[in-house]
Amino acid sequence: MAVNERDPHTGYMTTGHEWNGIKELNTPVPRPVYFFLITTALFSFVYWILMPAWPLGVSYTRGLLGIDQTTTVENALKQSELQRAAWTKRIETESYAAIQADAALMKIVRQSGKTLFGDNCAVCHGLNAKGSKGFPDLTARTWLWGGNPETLAETIRVGINTDHPNTRVSEMLGFGRTQVLNRAQVNDVIAYLRTLSGDAAKTPVPAAQREEGAKLFAAQCATCHGDNAKGKVEQGAPDLTDQSWIYGGDQQSILDTIWHGRKGYMPAWEPRLSATDRKILVLYLLDLQTKPQ
Ligand code: HEC
Ligand code: HEC
Repeated sequence: MAVNERDPHTGYMTTGHEWNGIKELNTPVPRPVYFFLITTALFSFVYWILMPAWPLGVSYTRGLLGIDQTTTVENALKQSELQRAAWTKRIETESYAAIQADAALMKIVRQSGKTLFGDNCAVCHGLNAKGSKGFPDLTARTWLWGGNPETLAETIRVGINTDHPNTRVSEMLGFGRTQVLNRAQVNDVIAYLRTLSGDAAKTPVPAAQREEGAKLFAAQCATCHGDNAKGKVEQGAPDLTDQSWIYGGDQQSILDTIWHGRKGYMPAWEPRLSATDRKILVLYLLDLQTKPQ
């Protein structure tokens, strides 16, 4: 083993190790490697000092910059609350008309309204608010209780047939079940209704039946549905002359309605949603009415 031997080809010293005639050169570590070692070591050192780094049992070294993700998140939340506060205040205080005229506020109404509706109302009225059998279509522009903002707000606040002290109360009586009308009379009334809603154009109704039905309607139904069957918002009784039906407009569904009666239940939202949220929902529903159907 020759120590202090210089390799004649490269000019480097050998380490003195030799394996079967192969000798190891004593080449220095390349400079770039040193460079990266030193910079990364320096970086980590500086990082430990500036940023939160070492765990110390219950706490940790906080770093000179005092950067803390918890505070960052808290600040971001505070910031967004402040922003929210600004527009909730406006929705709370401004009139329906003023909000409807403000494109920026209506954008917020559409966004939050959609979420609020999806979370609270869609189970019954459907995501698109178009309802289904037993649950009214809230885009149909035919209202049981009226469609102006204050009326809608009240309906949503107290509900229909709920245990809220101011609840709206309505009931469609079961005329067959209670034997106020017999089967033939119910059929006459249905025939009369069909002449009103335009269905009779397809299958004509005999004049005598129509007259009999009209008489029965005036005696039994007009108090709630109005003389012209166009409904009465004071009673929550629907227009029976349009094509929008809560419980179905086919012969059998109408027969079921008149025979057994109906008593829809709409929850009161005062205990569950803030006044602002309810106002947003009213604005959201009104906005839906303006969309083409
Ligand atoms: C449990 C089912 C259910 C839920 C949830 C529900 N509704 Fe209703 N809603 C009804 C029913 C049923 C009626 C119709 C009651 C009737 O036939 O008298 C109704 C009626 C209404 C009416 C009255 C419509 C008119 O023609 O006057 C409005 C407005 C309304 N709902 C809005 C809402 C809003 C807004 C929400 C969410 C906050 C909501 N509903 C959640 C079942 C529901
Ligand atoms: C005491 C008031 C009252 C009287 C009287 C009354 N109705 Fe009604 N009717 C209502 C109410 C309220 C509703 C809505 C019920 C609901 O949505 O749960 C309704 C609903 C209906 C519906 C269902 C409409 C739909 O969209 O599905 C039909 C059909 C109807 N009534 C027909 C009649 C006929 C026919 C008579 C007379 C024989 C009559 N009603 C008498 C209050 C009344």
